[in-house]
Amino acid sequence: MSQPRDHWSSNTGLVLAATGSAIGLGNLWKFPFITWENNGGAFVLVYLICIAAVGLPIMMAELLIGRRSQKSAVGALKEAAGPAWGLIGGWGVLAGFILLSYYTVIAGWSLYYFAQSLGWSFGGYPAGMSAGDLFDTQVGNAGLQLMLSLGFSIGTIAVVYFGVSRGIERIARIFLPILFGILILLLVSALGMSGSGEALGFIFRPNFGELPREGILEALGHSFFTLSLGMGAMITYGSYISRKQSIVKAAGAIVALDTLIALVATIIMFSVIFSVAGMSEEVGGSTVGMLFISLPELFYTEVPFGVLLGPLFYVLVALAALTSTISLLEVVTSYVIDEHGLTRNKATVGAGMAIFVFTIFAALSFTGTPFLSSLEIFEGKVGWFSNADHFVSNWMLPTGGFFITVAAGWMMTRSTTESELLDGNEPRWFHYGAWRFFIRFVAPVAVAAIIIAVITGVDFS
Ligand code: TRP
Repeated sequence: MSQPRDHWSSNTGLVLAATGSAIGLGNLWKFPFITWENNGGAFVLVYLICIAAVGLPIMMAELLIGRRSQKSAVGALKEAAGPAWGLIGGWGVLAGFILLSYYTVIAGWSLYYFAQSLGWSFGGYPAGMSAGDLFDTQVGNAGLQLMLSLGFSIGTIAVVYFGVSRGIERIARIFLPILFGILILLLVSALGMSGSGEALGFIFRPNFGELPREGILEALGHSFFTLSLGMGAMITYGSYISRKQSIVKAAGAIVALDTLIALVATIIMFSVIFSVAGMSEEVGGSTVGMLFISLPELFYTEVPFGVLLGPLFYVLVALAALTSTISLLEVVTSYVIDEHGLTRNKATVGAGMAIFVFTIFAALSFTGTPFLSSLEIFEGKVGWFSNADHFVSNWMLPTGGFFITVAAGWMMTRSTTESELLDGNEPRWFHYGAWRFFIRFVAPVAVAAIIIAVITGVDFS
């Protein structure tokens, strides 16, 4: 009954698909606003240290666990660490299921803003329109929210339906270069703006006196989210790597590209914001809305060639989100195929439809719908959407990530992990002993610190 396993057609295919998974709303939407809230410089430095000391070793661990077993999250963890570890894989699949169900809603907003910005580019930006009101009207419109998220879900299902090399890899190969191109264009234009010097100073000049204490943990939590770690997504992608490819090289490239894009996106957004008098005070009031409230208007009033760059920017957000949603759906689909023996087509459509049921709940979170808009499971988190996000980001990813470090560092033998990482293609900068030290000690201790912080009540969603 078992179907032959599809593989990435080349090392570049894997790197592009995994980079596409990593680069998403986390880079373009979440990172800039948490950098803002934590006062820049010092926070960015701490984030970079977390990426290198925790993110990179765990990225290698997930890829190697996947490649070794050639199975998705549940089967791979069972094989790596023992039968009970299937539960950790299942926890990851559940995290993917929930994360995808609400991520699609924000991805849908990017479609809306793309359509709007096209309209403004041709018809002119309506004078006197409040961007905040526009945002509230769109999130409050139930029919619109359902249409947008349904559209995005169908797009995601359509890609995963075609499988790993013909669906996911192909889309990543086409979209990622476009995404990089658009970002370079936006970066060049942002650097030419009057606020770019101030933006660079804000991002790269650390002042530790200004870093809030929780900022350290927030940086660590975000390094999981942005690299798609802690839930078996990279285990699943790793299971499609063939023996000839170097895991270390791939992990290095994925982590470097994801980090670069997060920084570039932040430079672009802050250059725009610092170029407009009074904008930085205004943004301080609504950092979450930065991407959808502060920026749209600026494209049409401040940014040179904004008429062109505005729609391009929202296409970029939509493409980045799509390469992430396909990897989330792949985690669930691949589990259903491997563990329940369904064909890919049935598994994709079935999983996609089941997830969409929960997307409906998330999409109606902002529309004043009884129960869904007022639900408060976690204190201060109002609505289905916010509670789901809080649960996944603060509980599921860190706990999943912790157990993955234990599986790779303590349950698997030295010779097993060594032979996976030193496969003859590894780059010169890689040192196996250092990796083993980080995965056994540094990463689990850091992750345990996040979990303890969450238990004692620090919120970093
Ligand atoms: N990394 C994605 C982003 O930055 C979000 C994400 C978290 C994700 N975990 C994932 C994407 C797992 C795909 C698979 O937006």
